[in-house]
Amino acid sequence: MSCCSRRAARLAALLLPLLATVFAAAQDSLGAGEPAWLAYRPVNSAAVFPDGVPDTVVALGRSTLEDSASHELALGWRGMLQREPRVVIGADGGLKRAVVIGTQTEINAWRPASGNGKPLAADAYRFSRVGGILVVEGGDERGVLYGVFALLRWIAEEHSLATLNESSGPADSIRWTNEWDNPDGSIERGYAGPSIFFADGKVRADQSRAAAYARLLSSIGINGCTINNVNANIDLLKPESLTDLARIADAFRAYGVRLSLSVDMSSPQVLGGLKTFDPLDPEVAAWWKSKVDEVYRAIPDFGGVLIKADSEGRPGPSQYGRTPADAANVVARALRPHGGVVLYRGFVYNNHLDWHDLKADRARAGYDNFHTLDGNFDDNVIVQIKHGPIDFQVREPVSPLFAALPHTNEAIELQITQEYTGQQRHLVYLVPMWKEALDTDMRASLTASPLPVKQIVSGRSSPPEHHTAGGFVGVANVGTDGWLGNPLALANLYGFGRLAWDPNLSAAAISDEWTRLSFGNDAAVRAVVNKLELDSWHIYESYTGPLGLGTLTDIIHVHFGPGIESAEGNGWEQWIRADHGGVGMDRTIATGTGYIGQYPAPLAAKYESLATCPDDLLLFMHHVPYTYRLHSGETVMQHIDNTHYWGAEAAAAQVPAWEELRGNVPDAIYTEVLKRLQFQSGHAIVWRDAVTQWFTKMSGIPDAKDRVGHYPGRIEAESMKLDGYTPVDVTPWETGSGGRAVICAAQQCSAQTTWDKPDGWYDVAAQYFDLPNGQSRFILSIAGNEVDRWVAGDTLPGDKLNGHTSTRRVLRRVAIHHGDIVRVTGWPDSAEKAPLDYVEIVPSQARETRK
Ligand code: GCU
Repeated sequence: MSCCSRRAARLAALLLPLLATVFAAAQDSLGAGEPAWLAYRPVNSAAVFPDGVPDTVVALGRSTLEDSASHELALGWRGMLQREPRVVIGADGGLKRAVVIGTQTEINAWRPASGNGKPLAADAYRFSRVGGILVVEGGDERGVLYGVFALLRWIAEEHSLATLNESSGPADSIRWTNEWDNPDGSIERGYAGPSIFFADGKVRADQSRAAAYARLLSSIGINGCTINNVNANIDLLKPESLTDLARIADAFRAYGVRLSLSVDMSSPQVLGGLKTFDPLDPEVAAWWKSKVDEVYRAIPDFGGVLIKADSEGRPGPSQYGRTPADAANVVARALRPHGGVVLYRGFVYNNHLDWHDLKADRARAGYDNFHTLDGNFDDNVIVQIKHGPIDFQVREPVSPLFAALPHTNEAIELQITQEYTGQQRHLVYLVPMWKEALDTDMRASLTASPLPVKQIVSGRSSPPEHHTAGGFVGVANVGTDGWLGNPLALANLYGFGRLAWDPNLSAAAISDEWTRLSFGNDAAVRAVVNKLELDSWHIYESYTGPLGLGTLTDIIHVHFGPGIESAEGNGWEQWIRADHGGVGMDRTIATGTGYIGQYPAPLAAKYESLATCPDDLLLFMHHVPYTYRLHSGETVMQHIDNTHYWGAEAAAAQVPAWEELRGNVPDAIYTEVLKRLQFQSGHAIVWRDAVTQWFTKMSGIPDAKDRVGHYPGRIEAESMKLDGYTPVDVTPWETGSGGRAVICAAQQCSAQTTWDKPDGWYDVAAQYFDLPNGQSRFILSIAGNEVDRWVAGDTLPGDKLNGHTSTRRVLRRVAIHHGDIVRVTGWPDSAEKAPLDYVEIVPSQARETRK
């Protein structure tokens, strides 16, 4: 060993244990989802390395990123191959079975003949073999790290590496997550506990979770993270905040993730004390320059800023008659000398439109506000466009804005956090939905050749010289509770990163990769998990928002349970235009809002005609009678009824499917997922009943199969014999069975009924409301014997009796005899008055008694 490699080895001996401590601390404190897909479970090492497992890792470079790479290899070796590798930093002679990692320059200097000579781009990597040596070569240091993570993925999937020879590079340069975290530790639209970055108005002292998160992001190729809410807190640009934020950037650095910040356009005025924040005012430009210089002094590798302006009450350039381009450019010019970028959101709209105006349409806003600005943005500005024209609904067409900016850098904004898709309490694998958006052929150039959105955002559409950057932004909103709360939701974070790297990967391939890395290679486990993930979007869509209506949730507040009418009659413009005659927004060119005309001609023609508009977007594009026949042959009304019943059944079937995995996945994950699938299965019934009853009433058309409004075995609480309980109305009416429930104003209340059907084995469901402000207790008894007890202890997103809080408790296979008294006794707690909606008793199909 040379003197230099000895010194390097000493350095490694010092650094590697330090990194190991950071991980250990982070991993100890996280929930069931950690360590996510970096579980590094033991594999069949003979299958991976038929010629023997390499015993040495040689890192040719000495950078922080390459240290992380060699450390990661050592972790992977220990976990998956059950070996402790010798880690050598710097070139080493006499290697036999080794993995050598380095940048292209380093590899060429080490052994010129080993590479294939073709230059690698930034962030790209290549694997090759030199005798018994496996070479991981990066286009740059980050590429080395990405190459190592890719190698570990191959190992985790138990592929033979005997002939590994592959190179890969990212499709896009911007691969960022956005985190909508607030300094007080809350997260806007976050569903997995508090912020990993902030607590009590400050940057957390311990940033080990930030480091662990950066490691996860890096493993899927993410290179940037905006750590604060798009509705930005201005104080974060204060000098003292910047010093603290620099600690987060420090935690990210070892994994090549650059920190960025959301900023508020009014900062020069509010924080800087200027008279104006007019982007064309020279003093404002000078303020941004000096502030950005200050940011870079604190965080030298700062990535850039994200701007939400003139949207949902945020201040913006329109206040001075200026454009989004004026606003973006003034900040971009301050960032340019440092290599930073501006992500300017295309999410600009007026949330006070007149509902009575049949031509008003929020979906038009992105295009209307931006298309005339094409070519006016500086080349370090990227317009960040939500994938659909409204707001992350369960189904939307792709935003027409993607096709309208051929001379502007664009990024697609996808939402990983499930704001409108069940908030991680419902299983929804979003990759198939994203793929539909990415694969939509915009023919933006109006030539015959296809131009899918994925190509536009890669910055490689024509004319290419106008696109210097582009990419993917995922709103992740991870928290301290296992990153995303639901272990199965991690497939969305994983899938986002993999698509940002390679948008041509299929949803199925990504699901399988994620499953293998998270749960191992067992074929039976993979089959169950993949099926659950791949079916889930369609299932969720079926019982929430059909035919392109959007998620029929309460759109004003929490966006979780059903709240159909909340879409109408206000300025937020998620209108569904349902009346007694029909439903859907008329967005046609001929008679509607003209939105369809914003698409390139071939796509516009497809949506404009009822003959070619796809069923699943029908009501987004057209207003039709309930009797209108879909391409499937069903009428709109039949479809609404059928699909909701099918969806609720499919949601229920997910529970036994998951139960097959008991003992085959880690217990903590098994239990957490089961709990959520059980909740989902009950909540899907709440959704089903609310949507079908609402549309039945509105249309006046009864369900052809007579299901809606007729619920076998259901006994409304208000019709039971009540002791202490009093009936109350539920609002909106469709979210409580029969529009009513009972609450207990006394210390203890009960509702009972006498079973008047034959003796038998039954499933008993109690539908109650679980409010966050109390933990009521319930006991179910049959013929005087307690058969079940539970506490309403969940923290659902709502504090009233409605579709957000309606919850189902099911006891399977219990004996009930004719004449038995079935009684629910409730004990209220604080403001939660042991609210009960109904009891439902149906013949059991279960083989054993269980909850
Ligand atoms: C949605 C979301 C808001 C968020 C906004 C945005 O409307 O409900 O919480 O601020 O999107 O993307 O800016």
